[in-house]
Amino acid sequence: MSSLTNKRILLGVTGGIAAYKSAELIRRLQDAGAEVRVVMTAAATEFITPLTLQALSGNPVYQDMLDADAEAAMGHIQLARWADLVLVAPATADFIARLANGQGNDLLTTLCLACTSPIAVAPSMNQAMWTNQVTQQNQDNLLQNGVRFFGPGEGLQACGETGPGRLLEPLQLVDLAAAIFPSSILSGKHVLITAGPTREAIDPVRYISNHSSGKQGFALAEAAVEAGASVTLIAGPTHLQTPDRVQRIDVISTQEMFSAVLAEAKNSDIYIGVAAVADFRPAHPVEQKIKKGQGSNETLSIELIENPDIIATVAELDPKPFTVGFAAETDNLIEYAKAKLISKRLDMIVANDVSDSSIGFNSDENKTTVIWDSDQKVIPQMSKHNVAREVIELIAARQKARLRT
Ligand code: PMT
Repeated sequence: MSSLTNKRILLGVTGGIAAYKSAELIRRLQDAGAEVRVVMTAAATEFITPLTLQALSGNPVYQDMLDADAEAAMGHIQLARWADLVLVAPATADFIARLANGQGNDLLTTLCLACTSPIAVAPSMNQAMWTNQVTQQNQDNLLQNGVRFFGPGEGLQACGETGPGRLLEPLQLVDLAAAIFPSSILSGKHVLITAGPTREAIDPVRYISNHSSGKQGFALAEAAVEAGASVTLIAGPTHLQTPDRVQRIDVISTQEMFSAVLAEAKNSDIYIGVAAVADFRPAHPVEQKIKKGQGSNETLSIELIENPDIIATVAELDPKPFTVGFAAETDNLIEYAKAKLISKRLDMIVANDVSDSSIGFNSDENKTTVIWDSDQKVIPQMSKHNVAREVIELIAARQKARLRT
């Protein structure tokens, strides 16, 4: 199926009988991975209700330039900037004429004027209106200005005549929309990433944790989105902002992370465990704050029990996602990382020397060695964002190779 993963499509609906098809078009665009927002002309609302398209798109439907509420939520310039593609389907002869003449006399034409992303129109009208010389001249003008035309198709029309002017079918429109975007290395893939530390409660005010900031995991989420994937990020406690177009699930403890990962992993093509997961947790967290002197001889013992190994559990799933671990080591970096690759049955591991504070926890840079069954590659010291891009490239290539075997 065509991929529109992470793409934002502004669907313009104008007033023609084929407006009813926009309901199905929204669904098919969403199936292909797109986020859809809808703008309707006044005439379109005579053919299909804004409520229907709002329910299907999951977003408010925009209709009026002068609607103060809509402008406060997302102004028309913001909406034009939001779109990766404006697709007008169905596009009437009147709309095409107004667009060709640079008019901004309603919200949809204004958005098109303000939009710097591609614009595509899918004409729908009577065959005589389509072949009319003025409509053809309008099409030529728009084509010269970079506007794409999807269709029209030919066949029996609502008016009973036969000829060119039919709106293309929703799946044809989705294919044409997808073809506008260059395909990327993780196009159509779903990537699940964990990041940050986990926290294990000792009592209501104290916990066991580690120094992970989440920076490397968040950078990987961003790089996976750049590579065209849809990304779910399961984050332990961090103060980092969620990268654009990433679905984030916040957790605190290892057991919460374990449950969240297992719920998501079966729908994922790739799993990347960057989180610094606590291997142990207090066996009996105390409900009230532990008071000084509660231990004996100025010592206090806390019994720890082992946490589940999240990544090893993911690697046992059938079918399992392409499973990538990170190994934080302070000595024998490559030897220990290779041992984890084998014992946890991973497809790849990224070895990270955390004894050097310039490339470990909370640093902005990293230096790693990526290891897989047959080979390894050193990624020299660079920003965590660039490390993430290199790691994503290696993962995409190895995952593709594994699918072929
Ligand atoms: O967050 P930053 O400040 O940017 O720092 C980045 C980092 C140092 C945390 C990151 O680069 C890193 O090395 N992450 C892995 C940390 C870690 O827990 O390593 P480990 O060697 O203990 O675990 C190996 C793998 O098993 C990891 O993929 C880990 O997520 C996973 N694991 C570990 C224990 C457990 N119970 N469940 C797991 O899934």
